[in-house]
Amino acid sequence: MEDEAPAPELSPLAEMGERDDESTLRPRRLAEFVGQPRVREQLRLVLEGAKGRGAPPDHVLLSGPPGLGKTSLSMIIAAELGSALRITSGPALERAGDLAAMLSNLVEGDVLFIDEIHRIARPAEEMLYLAMEDFRVDVVVGKGPGATSIPLEIAPFTLVGATTRSGALTGPLRDRFGFTAHMEFYVPEELEQVLRRSATILGVDLREDGAHEIAGRSRGTPRIANRLLRRVRDYAEVRADGAVTRDIARAALKVYDVDELGLDRLDRAVLSALVRSFGGGPVGVSTLAVAVGEESTTVEEVCEPYLVRAGMLARTPRGRVATAAAWAHLGLSAPPQAPGHSAPSLFDE
Ligand SMILES: Nc1ncnc2c1ncn2[C@@H]1O[C@H](COP(=O)(O)OP(=O)(O)OP(=O)(O)O)[C@@H](O)[C@H]1O
Ligand SMILES: [Mg+2]
Repeated sequence: MEDEAPAPELSPLAEMGERDDESTLRPRRLAEFVGQPRVREQLRLVLEGAKGRGAPPDHVLLSGPPGLGKTSLSMIIAAELGSALRITSGPALERAGDLAAMLSNLVEGDVLFIDEIHRIARPAEEMLYLAMEDFRVDVVVGKGPGATSIPLEIAPFTLVGATTRSGALTGPLRDRFGFTAHMEFYVPEELEQVLRRSATILGVDLREDGAHEIAGRSRGTPRIANRLLRRVRDYAEVRADGAVTRDIARAALKVYDVDELGLDRLDRAVLSALVRSFGGGPVGVSTLAVAVGEESTTVEEVCEPYLVRAGMLARTPRGRVATAAAWAHLGLSAPPQAPGHSAPSLFDE
């Protein structure tokens, strides 16, 4: 089902070439970071406490779906501490030696950011335990019975790990973070704030009703809000006078196949398969993924978090189940066994 590929407009993953736009729009300081009030307050305490003591703060784990601001927050942590930021990622740390090189170059107080930390290779992960706990690594030299391990001091640093799948992290790794920030989807009012800020930076004439319309369709995700703003701006400039009003936003988003709830074709395909082919479930995620012709990780990490948050889909031990709201969204009447709103809906607020 090639035509059910996710509309790129609504993917929470960064697109190719989108990095430059993102860096322009990234908040630089905690005060500029919109939303996530709990995380912001907790982080402020962690950072101020550490600054007061003159020691690097505890290691921080940022967990949450793509596009909610984990990378931005890691940069903010370094900026707030006045420290240098070193950036790497789980997949880049294939061998323990790669990590050892990275660690031994750190200077005191540095912030080391490991993106996608759940994808770190096992030997590197084991080296990380000791580094996080004792600021020390054991470098093994040689092979077989002649191998010796040389202890290496490393400068006290702060590790910031980011993950879209905190469940995939091993217990020992998770336990070594002093502070875990669980990032939540943003409510529409917060996304409006993100949009107003971005419009100012980009010089877009964004009207209040236009911001409201785009925010409601951005799946609780700042990256998507910013992307839709750029698309709507193009439409406004080409087909109208440049002002982003509600009507312009609606017309533009219709072109991009983004519905009122921000669901795209893949989301609708998942719901439709769940309801029409599996009677509303329960059905396993891999079966569901095959039915829509997608990878199960895409369905699990990209579609589902938002469908759950929007109260459309429930994850149960026996599989995925469509809620009454999902049946209604497809214009069908739900059978009596369909769960009601299993999660707080973004749209009742
Ligand atoms: N709280 C926020 N306030 C303002 N803008 C934000 C906020 N969070 C994210 N953004 C915007 O969304 C974009 C994506 O954020 P970021 O790259 O930090 O997400 P991420 O969680 O690291 O995503 P991924 O999991 O794909 O790495 C940023 O460039 C920034 O413009
Ligand atoms: Mg990131």
